[in-house]
Amino acid sequence: MSHRNEATAALKALSVATDACRECPLGAYATQSVFGEGPVGAVLMVVGEQPGDKEDLAGRPFVGPAGKLFDRAVAKLGWSREKLYVTNAVKHFKYELRGKRRVHKTPAQREAEACHHWLESEMELVQPRGYVALGATAARSLLGRPVAVMKERGRWIEDEATGRRVLVTLHPSALLRGDPAQREVAWKAWLKDLSVASSLMKKASVKQPAAKRPPATPAAGHARRRVRMVME
Ligand code: URA
Repeated sequence: MSHRNEATAALKALSVATDACRECPLGAYATQSVFGEGPVGAVLMVVGEQPGDKEDLAGRPFVGPAGKLFDRAVAKLGWSREKLYVTNAVKHFKYELRGKRRVHKTPAQREAEACHHWLESEMELVQPRGYVALGATAARSLLGRPVAVMKERGRWIEDEATGRRVLVTLHPSALLRGDPAQREVAWKAWLKDLSVASSLMKKASVKQPAAKRPPATPAAGHARRRVRMVME
């Protein structure tokens, strides 16, 4: 089997494994896990926070209102969603019940940490050239430190420990929730942030995973062991 096929099979196996994950309490309350979607070797990996109500029901990332806004941005930028790998820092929907409504709750840091090894495995298998962090939870998961999104948005940030390039911007939900009078300005600023990754996307004919791995870190080693376990 080619490396690409092996990695694709490993992602599928990981997706099944996340569904059974009970390393934090969220899995017990969600309909199913929502794993990442996209090709191995995608040039860009886009990371959100966690699935919302619609994603939890569909089992796919970014298919609800935030996803629709993201799709509009993708179209405006001339990108193609099929060429992106789209995932979340946390794989199960966290919510509280208000009557019959399931209202989104921000995941706790311990929940994001418990889920991190799944994301680490996706990064190992997909090997994108760059990452887009949508919001603070994703940014912290990718960079391993708290990130002030408004200060650090719109430029590549190189993570010295892993060699990964991360572009931080707002989560689309922040735009949906924002002041309607500022919506147009916020939309343009968001597109400007995302457009920083356009040079990568232009070369995006879905390349093979980069041959050179980032320097080994304890977390990466841990993820590689898990990936091997899934692939065996
Ligand atoms: N918000 C996210 O962060 N991810 C999704 O998949 C949907 C909404």
